[in-house]
Amino acid sequence: MKKPPKKPTEAETEQPNSISDPKSTSPYRGWTRRGFLQTTAGLSALAVTARTSVHADQDVSKGSLPTRSGPAETPLAFELNGVAVSTQAEPRETLADVLLYRLNLTGTKIGCDRGACGACTVLVDGATRVSCLTPALDIANRRVTTVEGLTLKDGSLSPLQQAFVNHDALQCGYCTPGFLMSATALYTKTPAPTKEQVVEAVSGNLCRCAAHSHIIDAILSVKNGERP
Ligand code: FES
Ligand code: FES
Repeated sequence: MKKPPKKPTEAETEQPNSISDPKSTSPYRGWTRRGFLQTTAGLSALAVTARTSVHADQDVSKGSLPTRSGPAETPLAFELNGVAVSTQAEPRETLADVLLYRLNLTGTKIGCDRGACGACTVLVDGATRVSCLTPALDIANRRVTTVEGLTLKDGSLSPLQQAFVNHDALQCGYCTPGFLMSATALYTKTPAPTKEQVVEAVSGNLCRCAAHSHIIDAILSVKNGERP
């Protein structure tokens, strides 16, 4: 039986073209496809090796790479509940961060951390501010009041705080500091607010325990002269 013809190798079947044709005027004249691929693969490997060696030279432990990617801590001084305080803060930190984690004042609460719930409300120069969205370095040399600053000098609750207790205006209590600060700001400007003004003043505060009606009653009771 006649043997089938031998299958030609790739080299034997390589057709002349602009790369392999010795008569070509192409700058790649004389290259075979295989040679071209082998050469480019070798160059790629060299590039990877070079890139790897650049990183290997950069020893982080020797400090050749930066150890931090942002600005450093900056001194920060302001008045907090009537007392001058000096601390440090990075530009990325919020006022809530500084109060809770640098000054250990845990009365201010972080609920949503995005300006939607009002739990973190404090006063800055007497006006309400959501401390979770206030850059800490913005309050340099300003006057900050937190819920800790509402208690009376003898340590007892302020009339507003006591009114919340009397009216059962809290359940878990997480929202309470924010409501107290918003109500305090209202009374500073409007000593005898109407119910509509109270509702408007605390419209940025959310109580997830649904104690809103008791909270409004508590705030109004202070206006009406009700005292513990
Ligand atoms: S925690 Fe700041 S508004 Fe909710
Ligand atoms: S008392 Fe719980 S969120 Fe208001």
